[in-house]
Amino acid sequence: MAEPVLSLKGVSKSFGALKATENVSLDLYPGEIHALIGPNGAGKSTLIHQIAGTLRPDTGEISFLGERIDGLKVAERARRGLGRSFQVSSLAPEFSALRNVMLAVQSVQGSSFRFFKPVLSDRSLVDPAMEALARVGLQDRARVPAAELSHGERRQLEIAIALALGSKAFLLDEPMAGMGPEGSKALTGFLSELREEAPILLVEHDMDAVFALADRISVLVYGRVIASGSVDEVRADPEVRRAYLGDE
Ligand SMILES: Nc1ncnc2c1ncn2[C@@H]1O[C@H](COP(=O)(O)OP(=O)(O)O)[C@@H](O)[C@H]1O
Ligand SMILES: [Mg+2]
Repeated sequence: MAEPVLSLKGVSKSFGALKATENVSLDLYPGEIHALIGPNGAGKSTLIHQIAGTLRPDTGEISFLGERIDGLKVAERARRGLGRSFQVSSLAPEFSALRNVMLAVQSVQGSSFRFFKPVLSDRSLVDPAMEALARVGLQDRARVPAAELSHGERRQLEIAIALALGSKAFLLDEPMAGMGPEGSKALTGFLSELREEAPILLVEHDMDAVFALADRISVLVYGRVIASGSVDEVRADPEVRRAYLGDE
C-alpha cells in the first residue's frame, strides 16, 4: 500500500473544558478524496486548523510527506505543499485572477530583481500563473477581477494559487458553502479531477457532494472519529445513522 501523504495520530485540542478534537487519527492517501463529516461544532474546522498550523494541537502527531509538521509554522507547512481553501477567502478582490496567481508565483520564486520589470509582462511570472489557471479551467477568465468571478470560480482560483505554490495535498473546509446547485455541481466535477493532482481532505456539509466525491469518509462527533470507511460502509454504520445521518 502507498504511504499516506498526510497522517494524523492522536490529535487533540481543548478550548478550556471543551474537547474540540479528541484523539483523532486519520490518513490521506495519494489520489483520494477523504471526506470529513459531522454535525455543527463537531470539531471539523478545528482539526483543519491544526493540520494547517493556525492552531497547535495539545497532543498528537501530524506527518506530511513522511515528516512531522506539527511543530512548524503555517507558512512552512504551506511551503512544503499543504494547500488550503477556507470559507473566508484570501484573494485580492480588485486584482485579476491572473494577478492573484502571479502574486503566489512571485512569493515562491522570491523577489530578486523582479521589481525592475513591469510585473504583468514578466514571462517568468505570467507563464506559470497561466499554466496554473489552465489546470483549473480558468484560462479564459485570467483578466477578470477576482471580485467578479462566481463563487465556484473563486474556489477554483484559490486552488490555482495553491497549485502554483506547489501544493501536494489540499485541505478544503466547506468549499461548497454559499453556492447554488449549479455551482456545487461544477465544483464537484472540478474536485473530482483535482484529486489526481493532489489528494484532498474535504470538510463538507453537502451530503450529495460528499457521497458523489469521497473515496473514504470519516465521521466526527463531539471531537471524536466515530466511524471511518468507504461511502457504503459509513452510510450503513448504525452509530453514524443514529448520531448524524438521522435514521428514517
Ligand atoms: N477559538 C475557539 N475558542 C473556543 N472554542 C472554540 C474555538 N474554535 C472552535 N471552538 C469550539 O469548538 C467546537 C468545535 O468547533 P469547530 O471546529 O468550528 O466545529 P465544526 O467545524 O465541526 O462545526 C465548537 O464547540 C466551537 O464552539
Ligand atoms: Mg466548521
